[in-house]
Amino acid sequence: MNKHVGVLTAGGDCPGLNAVLRGIGKAALEYFDMQVIGFRDGFRGLMEDRTERLDGNTLSGILTLGGTILGTSRDKPHRMPVGDKLLDMTDVIVNNYKRHHLDVLVCLGGGGTQKSAYRLKEKGLNIITLPKTIDNDVAMTDVTFGFDTALTIATEAIDRLHSTAHSHHRIVVVEIMGHKAGWLALGAGIAGGADVILIPEIPYDVNRVAEAILTRSRSGKHFSIVAVAEGALPKGAEADSDDVKKDKKGDKRKADKKKNPSDNEPEPDGKTMRLARQLEELTRLESRVTILGYLQRGGTPSAGDRLLATRLGTACAALINEGTYGVMLAARGDRTEPVALEEVVGKRKTVPLDHPWIESARRVGTSLGD
Ligand code: F6P
Repeated sequence: MNKHVGVLTAGGDCPGLNAVLRGIGKAALEYFDMQVIGFRDGFRGLMEDRTERLDGNTLSGILTLGGTILGTSRDKPHRMPVGDKLLDMTDVIVNNYKRHHLDVLVCLGGGGTQKSAYRLKEKGLNIITLPKTIDNDVAMTDVTFGFDTALTIATEAIDRLHSTAHSHHRIVVVEIMGHKAGWLALGAGIAGGADVILIPEIPYDVNRVAEAILTRSRSGKHFSIVAVAEGALPKGAEADSDDVKKDKKGDKRKADKKKNPSDNEPEPDGKTMRLARQLEELTRLESRVTILGYLQRGGTPSAGDRLLATRLGTACAALINEGTYGVMLAARGDRTEPVALEEVVGKRKTVPLDHPWIESARRVGTSLGD
């Protein structure tokens, strides 16, 4: 009998999601003779049973499209906002899975989605996940789709900021996404030739950053580009920034979750503005801030992401065909490899301090603020 495949995209959108949907869908429909149904807006659509049949028509022309044709949300099965409450809707989701006679649910997402998908696996559903995020912070895979595009966009931005910083003899502090990992800022900083790169993995000393800028100034270079990851912190601030705090009842929870159930984004607290002001005071050089924000996530995927997305999507269909479930399909070199979900969840892949990118940055004279 034909297999029935359900698919959803969850968490923040990123370039390459549609390319993956096309890869899974085309291979499943045309190569393996399966049926594919999409759920709208992540786990919320699965809970509310809002679906879209993925056929030749819907899958056509989407390879180059940014975002996700299915829509997305950060809602989690076990903490679903319903009215003004957060409810555990896992049982409803399990029933909807059964109602559609699904053989498998494929979840495209980052760290949070891996966790949610794992919970559903624990409830007995057949699950496959694919590693999505511009942050590149999903464990057990070489790379996530979306990262290459965001890296290119951030690098181009740094290129462009160079000429204006140079003309005005300014410091330009450019804030780059990445959540609590420094892959994007480090990669784009190196590729764009930033003079200072600050990442969460290496707490910085603002005086060392100012020193690096002044050293450039003394050698006749009166401008500097500082690429700062959104999660970067000054030395000593790590303890304050711990996002797991105890509330009055003693429950451990994310401090920023009380108002907003979306727990993925760091609070916009003006850290980057503060850094620019401090640098201005310490160096007496005028400074400006550019926050790249959602530009890094929007628009068409790079060739590299289209290729990765198509490899992952088609390999996922093959995995469904052989009946391998309970796994994330990881990218490993030129190959793809299923990894048990247990090995993926609850881990964040940050930049190791001995990573070759860090060594390369230091060797070309880039300050990492330490
Ligand atoms: O995970 C991708 C990402 O863009 C992070 O880099 C960023 O911290 C976060 O999502 C922003 O989330 P939201 O889309 O919920 O504002």
